[in-house]
Amino acid sequence: MKFFIETFGCQMNENDTERIQFLLENAGYDRTKDISESDIIILNTCTVRESAKNRQYGHIGNLKKIKNLKKDILICIGGCAAQDIKENIIKDFPYIDIVFGTQNIAYLPDLIKKRISTGRSICCIEDSGFDPELFKVRRKHSFRALVPITIGCDNYCSYCIVPMVRGKERSIEAEKILKNIEELVSDGAVEVTLLGQNVNSYGKNLRQPYTFSALLEKISDIKGLKRIRFMTSHPKDFSGDLIDVIKNRDNIAKHVHLPLQAGSDKILKEMNRNYTRKDYFGIIENIKNKIPDCAITTDIIVGFPGEEKEDFLETMGMIKKIRFNRAFTFIYSPRAGTRAAGMDDRITIDEKKQWFRQLLEIQNTISFEENNKLIGRRFEVLVEGNSSKNSALLEGRMENNTIVNFEGKSNLTGKIVPVIIDSARTFYVKGKLARG
Ligand code: SAH
Ligand code: SF4
Ligand code: F3S
Repeated sequence: MKFFIETFGCQMNENDTERIQFLLENAGYDRTKDISESDIIILNTCTVRESAKNRQYGHIGNLKKIKNLKKDILICIGGCAAQDIKENIIKDFPYIDIVFGTQNIAYLPDLIKKRISTGRSICCIEDSGFDPELFKVRRKHSFRALVPITIGCDNYCSYCIVPMVRGKERSIEAEKILKNIEELVSDGAVEVTLLGQNVNSYGKNLRQPYTFSALLEKISDIKGLKRIRFMTSHPKDFSGDLIDVIKNRDNIAKHVHLPLQAGSDKILKEMNRNYTRKDYFGIIENIKNKIPDCAITTDIIVGFPGEEKEDFLETMGMIKKIRFNRAFTFIYSPRAGTRAAGMDDRITIDEKKQWFRQLLEIQNTISFEENNKLIGRRFEVLVEGNSSKNSALLEGRMENNTIVNFEGKSNLTGKIVPVIIDSARTFYVKGKLARG
């Protein structure tokens, strides 16, 4: 039997898809990229914003046609939207066979068997606590690995649904993480991305408390590991010694993704972010002083309830002053069950969209200008494969996470090569392979 998986959302979900693939292949199923030849369809969903959820709901609706044509096909819905909506997905779409929660991935092969033998739809949303099989994955790329170090989130930012769909924050024991990364490196991985909703709070709830900086240093000692990335950092827990570790270790990528969310203290407080704009500026200044080449990227939410023009202008001011290499910007989306969903929201959606466009415009200009500064310089680039936009070109990433396109043979995939940058766009740069 063949299975088809589509993944929505963040790298946590990508990692979960790699786990699902491992488990199903182990149970004798093969992955296919062609939905029309599949016997099992799996959607790994995201519900961080209503628009994302709605798109996926539309997608689930479209699967009815496939089910009508092929009665025996199994449709399974997992991920964060499944965890949120639970059995109501089956009420909305009675042809769904299996709904499984974010902590129930390990049960999927059994759920499939049970569905086939009983002929009844199943909804499995259980708090299974810690998952011992967390590191068993089929990696998408042999040279690159995603490694969860914490799962869940305890921060309860007032707009955010993630704590509700991913459970309480749990850190994975350092020895397990280190052993896993050593195995990944001997299996060909040169880059790892450490994942957590707030990696900076790593280790707080372990039996023997551990810090993220200490973990990073240990990981950095692993021989053969060329690049370490991590996300997401939370300003409230971002420590000064972390900046020193990033600076002092060659194999830790000089890139920090540090979501600001809003530039006004009033809104930050309402968001329950637990830092002020001054705190945030302090971290940025410290990073820029110690690691001048470090890229800084961020997430911003526009139109949070109670946000007024002055608050928005404070966000704009921070964007202009800090000059992020890239910002992921979102219009606030109310999520049922979160604290912010009950807050008074008077600004019209049209005004929010206008703010959003202004912000995007200024940020795009800054990203373009920052990328232009790279022209003429030589960087080590990890080749990820052919460019999705132009298959005649290779695509890779610089240490600071900037995407680079250049001419070269596909057999360079997975290798780190020197590239001289010769032109810049808003979201990527172009260059030429340099001699060794
Ligand atoms: N744990 C990470 C990422 C969480 S989700 C963090 O703390 O930053 C990724 C981004 O989605 C968030 O940083 C936030 O900018 C955005 N986001 C989350 N909930 C949202 C909502 N209700 N409306 C709009 N954007 C939201
Ligand atoms: Fe959501 Fe905040 Fe947790 Fe990030 S830190 S996942 S934004 S609650
Ligand atoms: Fe990620 Fe979306 Fe879930 S952003 S944690 S897949 S709600």
